[in-house]
Amino acid sequence: MKTLYTQRLILRDFAQTDLVDFNRYCSVEGVGEMAGWSCHKSMEESQEILSRFIAEGHTYCLEDNLSHVVIGSIGIEEKNNEIFDIVRQKGLFGTIVEIGYVLEKQHWNKGLMTEAVLRVIDHCFCDLHVDNILVGHFPDNLQSKRVIEKCGFSPLITLEKIYPNQKGEKVDVCLYYMSAFDYFKKRLKKYSKAVAVVGMCGSGKSVLTEMFEKLGWNKIYFGGVTVAQLKKQGLEINEVNERAMREGLRKKYGMSAFSVLLVDEIKEKLQRGGLVLDGLYSWSEYTHLNVALDGNIVLCAVVTNRNLRYERLATRTVRPLSRQQAMSRDYSEIENLEKGGPIACAHFYIDNNGTEEQLRHNFYDFLAYLLKK
Ligand SMILES: CC(C)(COP(=O)(O)OP(=O)(O)OC[C@H]1O[C@@H](n2cnc3c(N)ncnc32)[C@H](O)[C@@H]1OP(=O)(O)O)[C@@H](O)C(=O)NCCC(=O)NCCS
Repeated sequence: MKTLYTQRLILRDFAQTDLVDFNRYCSVEGVGEMAGWSCHKSMEESQEILSRFIAEGHTYCLEDNLSHVVIGSIGIEEKNNEIFDIVRQKGLFGTIVEIGYVLEKQHWNKGLMTEAVLRVIDHCFCDLHVDNILVGHFPDNLQSKRVIEKCGFSPLITLEKIYPNQKGEKVDVCLYYMSAFDYFKKRLKKYSKAVAVVGMCGSGKSVLTEMFEKLGWNKIYFGGVTVAQLKKQGLEINEVNERAMREGLRKKYGMSAFSVLLVDEIKEKLQRGGLVLDGLYSWSEYTHLNVALDGNIVLCAVVTNRNLRYERLATRTVRPLSRQQAMSRDYSEIENLEKGGPIACAHFYIDNNGTEEQLRHNFYDFLAYLLKK
């Protein structure tokens, strides 16, 4: 597992040399019991569990970064048990991991676990690209409840008599979740640059733009300019009129016509938070906006292999294109609309050759990139 750092802790893989520390905090009564396991009765018992943690590789040990003593653990587990089936019925989709944690008693109430969990949340969404994190506590475990609340999880469901406690009795568990969309929505709420989604026809720009809208971002659709101008002039909205209008606007304002006409709206909407630009095509549009926005524009190219794009375009339900039509559109967009430039110079590339889930995870990777900038 990737080693993680917080202000006071190092989160790293367990090693056999941690046995004495591990046994020390696990053999104190009233610790494990709150998480559903009995305190360790012997060094052998601790050894067996430690070896399992090392072999399975999904439990972080928490090391105090000053004393280098191990004082607790956090597990991140992707399971497929009945609980995961239940939470799927509650609408959670994609990859779901559950976290569980424990801290040596003498260190309680110093904010240490909250610090560790917040770092693990960043790791799950930004590095592991999971869709949802689950966490639960027994109803009477108010300190764990408080950690969960402080970390920003939302209540999901209370499952009745589902988890075995240390006596083997099934008890209730209160479950909470955080989705990747909730996480990034919160963290990128005040993102101050415009993100332009660029790509060839059929690469997946619309799906990606919808994901930004799901984050609560505003969208500006460049094609909307054509429709608005047609309406203004009382003309019918159809393909022939739209093309004539587009060409007319480019003759009048040059290849950056759409960004020239939209720049004020873009600046105004940027004041309100995240903004995605849908339909920026030409290199001239990009260079014009880049100057007008003082460089506050990020080009995000969604790329898909050519044959796959053509297959997708041929089978899409809305305005399908034959292979021949798709190819001539590609040529025309590159030769007449300068479409290649923004794609060639994109700040970030999102691969869309896989499943929708993979696209979503690549999208999280892009959002993590925005957070770092
Ligand atoms: C749960 C546990 C990991 C919390 O670790 P921690 O480092 O003490 O957590 P934090 O200090 O970040 O936060 C604890 C919060 O609980 C509050 N708290 C402590 N005892 C409480 C109680 N009896 N009732 C209500 N709140 C309580 C603290 O005041 C603090 O909240 P605050 O920051 O608003 O003051 C630790 O208590 C532990 O290891 N418990 C045993 C194992 C366990 O329960 N694991 C979780 C299984 S779901």
